[in-house]
Amino acid sequence: MDDLRDKYISLIAGAADEAALEDLRVQAVGKKGEISLKMRELGKMSAEERQAAGPRLNALKDEINSALAAKKEALGDAALDARLRGEWLDVTLPVRPRRQGTIHPISQVTEEVTAIFADMGFAVAEGPQIESDWYNFDALNIPGHHPARAEMDTFYTHRGEGDERPPHVLRTHTSPVQIRTMQEQGAPLRIIAPGRVYRADYDMTHTPMFHQVEGLAIERDISMANLKWVLEEFVKAFFEVDDVELRFRASHFPFTEPSAEVDIRCSWEGGTLKVGEGDDWLEILGSGMVHPKVLEASKIDPSAWQGFAFGMGIDRIAMLKYGIPDLRAFFDSDLRWLRHYGFAALDVPTLRGGLSR
Ligand code: DAH
Repeated sequence: MDDLRDKYISLIAGAADEAALEDLRVQAVGKKGEISLKMRELGKMSAEERQAAGPRLNALKDEINSALAAKKEALGDAALDARLRGEWLDVTLPVRPRRQGTIHPISQVTEEVTAIFADMGFAVAEGPQIESDWYNFDALNIPGHHPARAEMDTFYTHRGEGDERPPHVLRTHTSPVQIRTMQEQGAPLRIIAPGRVYRADYDMTHTPMFHQVEGLAIERDISMANLKWVLEEFVKAFFEVDDVELRFRASHFPFTEPSAEVDIRCSWEGGTLKVGEGDDWLEILGSGMVHPKVLEASKIDPSAWQGFAFGMGIDRIAMLKYGIPDLRAFFDSDLRWLRHYGFAALDVPTLRGGLSR
């Protein structure tokens, strides 16, 4: 019995892995194991022999079983340790440069625009992207039959069965934020409202979701001259040129009177855009003096207050400034494109620090 004990205790101690340990268990205390066979021999013994051998054999069996269990646990711990060592990862290490994310050009340009207008005293206002048709159309002097409604390729939401209320729309422009801000803040005010807008349209220069920035200034005495100065300051700062020439073209928007579309002088020599020189004109925004009906809808007295407003495509000015040819690529989430056109996270645009790289 002592030989058996010594043999198995040393074999168990030397077992290399759980499979080897399992073989030893079968060999020693399995159904036909050496110790089990010995226990079977108890039946053939005399009563005295059995009384002496029985407890010793049982003790031996217990000892082997607990040696097996202890070794099994030790082997399990060692396997876990090895795995933990293999899969070890220091999450405090800096990310690898090739994995670095970038700031999307739309975000960057929105920050640039915000920095420029903030410098001229404009605060940032927001409104919902799912808008009532009153805010998106009626309050902006676009009645139900107006062609502008049809032209905007509006996305409508569905009302429930039997619900006769007009459906909500995905806002087709940022202009409804004008109404909401005037209602909430009253006059005077000076805001820009950058954000997402939606129209059912898709080609090189149109995507169903795109970005606009709205501008609105309400004062007792404010005119197109103020609008012109503000826009000139903006264009100079945004395109980082000393001089620009703006062209105001008479136009029509239901929410402004008079209305103007604004072009900037530019050249496309050699396929690259230069702002401020050349013989071409580039349309960048719509604008005008806020229509008295729009002021009235916003509970502002049109005999005491007037204002200018403008709306500009953020994606469009981003394409122009950074030479990005296809609008659709903005929203493809192609990492190679983002790495090429994106901005470093710490490139925060400020007027003093520089707006672009
Ligand atoms: N909301 C117009 C559009 O989406 C752009 C616009 C034109 C906004 C004139 C204005 C404005 O505030 O005065 O096309």
